[in-house]
Amino acid sequence: MRIVRSLVIAATLTSLAGAAFAQDAGKAAIGARQALMKMQAYYLGQLGMMAQGKVPYDAKAATIAANGLEAISSVDFATLFPQGSDNAADPQTKALPAIWTSMDDFVSKYADLHKASLTLQAQAGNGLDALKANFGPVAGTCGACHKEYRAAN
Ligand code: HEC
Repeated sequence: MRIVRSLVIAATLTSLAGAAFAQDAGKAAIGARQALMKMQAYYLGQLGMMAQGKVPYDAKAATIAANGLEAISSVDFATLFPQGSDNAADPQTKALPAIWTSMDDFVSKYADLHKASLTLQAQAGNGLDALKANFGPVAGTCGACHKEYRAAN
């Protein structure tokens, strides 16, 4: 009897620890993906300032920023969105539940960003016109995903 009771207690503790772990894992993933997004915005912002003529074009700086975008957009995006890390479950995130019902589309929108980043990476150092021509398509992929999968506020 005592053995049964301690087995029950052990099982309960294990599942509680499992739930806590899942919650921590969700929080860690939310922090990681928001940091990753901030880096995207950092590099995109630098390129945008040059494309809009707010800072002088600099081939080296443009290449560094475009390299950054390409690197960040090549991570496995889906694994940063574990089940239960949506904004209905956790107020820290703006990730809409639609992500989990349309995961293939969500992941393909991140692949669109990576594809556009590869072109920008190849062209960013080739002068202001080349930067301008390839900046818009990258920025467009950010908005296309946010519109459907990120809460407005
Ligand atoms: C495939 C979808 C997708 C693409 C592409 C994407 N984002 Fe996001 N972004 C998200 C989601 C989802 C969130 C909300 C994340 C959260 O709060 O957990 C987000 C959040 C953000 C945030 C807020 C981060 C924070 O601190 O809360 C910024 C800034 C951002 N994105 C910038 C960008 C930029 C710049 C690009 C393009 C270079 C981009 N994103 C491309 C899905 C995407």
